[in-house]
Amino acid sequence: MKPLRSLLFIPGDSEKKLAKADASGADAVILDLEDAVAPANKPAARKLVAEFLKARPKLGRKVQVWVRVNPFDTGMTLEDLVAVVGHEPDGIMQPKTDGPDDVERMSHYIDALEAQAGLEHGAIKIIPVATETAIAPFNLGEFAYADLDRLAGLSWGAEDLAAAVGGQGNRMPDGSWMYTYQMVRAQVLLAAHAAGVAAIDTLYADFRDEEGLRAESRLGRAEGFTGRLVIHPAQVAPVNESFSPSEQEVVMARKIVAAFEAQPDTGTIGIDGKMYDIPHLKGARTTLQLHEASKA
Ligand code: COA
Ligand code: MG
Repeated sequence: MKPLRSLLFIPGDSEKKLAKADASGADAVILDLEDAVAPANKPAARKLVAEFLKARPKLGRKVQVWVRVNPFDTGMTLEDLVAVVGHEPDGIMQPKTDGPDDVERMSHYIDALEAQAGLEHGAIKIIPVATETAIAPFNLGEFAYADLDRLAGLSWGAEDLAAAVGGQGNRMPDGSWMYTYQMVRAQVLLAAHAAGVAAIDTLYADFRDEEGLRAESRLGRAEGFTGRLVIHPAQVAPVNESFSPSEQEVVMARKIVAAFEAQPDTGTIGIDGKMYDIPHLKGARTTLQLHEASKA
């Protein structure tokens, strides 16, 4: 799969915003049927999202199209899935999951609808938002052991978790995450890598603050996140750039790979007065892969 650096939320009931999906430059758009859509607009949103998907057949689609459906406890999940699965979204974003069991249940629903529509089994992926209930963080490690073929990434949300624990906000006065959110964010990063899937950082709500978005995104990438959720088209380019290797990184990665290739029997080498060993080689290869994928 192509990299998912930026995943742009678009309210599923906004024709005007849906029209901006293709030109957004995002690696994926997430057409929202959940909290960006008021209850009265859900049926209209399902229709619009289905039409949107239909107008962009999967083969030859420029941007990945994901759909965020409503969680199980709303009783709306099946209606959402019935409306969209047959039109081959690239994936389903599943909010407010408690853990892998919820994703397995979602996967079974998609199994049935894929079969009904005559689609290739397992083509539709799932990314759960895996920290939005109080129990969810305790189950994150289980994603590494669960056999979930559709799992393409793990993401996290801070707003719903704050509501779930009766908190007022989630950031400290200096803008950094409060402790609970630092903790679950780190757990998502670890769980995603343990499960071998994309680690998708949460959104940056202040969509006029490009500098803050860039700073936080670069840190996120340095920490191991592979991309993040975005809510406004202006956030796409800064996020794509932040989650692509810089020129300096690419130059260094090439140096490291070349040095190890020149000395295939060596586990440790020195470059410009610094030590590099196998983890650095692994990292360099990842950087070059990501660089190639980001250009494509
Ligand atoms: N997707 C596509 N287009 C978007 C967009 C989005 N997420 N957000 C804004 N735009 C468009 C606007 O329609 C507007 O178009 P125009 O220039 O033709 O009028 C343009 O980009 C500039 O928008 P702006 O005026 O800066 O923002 P806004 O006040 O219209 O919208 C939000 C602000 C937050 C409501 C909007 O960005 C949004 O809906 N974001 C997604 C929310 C969402 O889905 N949340 C669920 C997950 S948390
Ligand atoms: Mg939410």
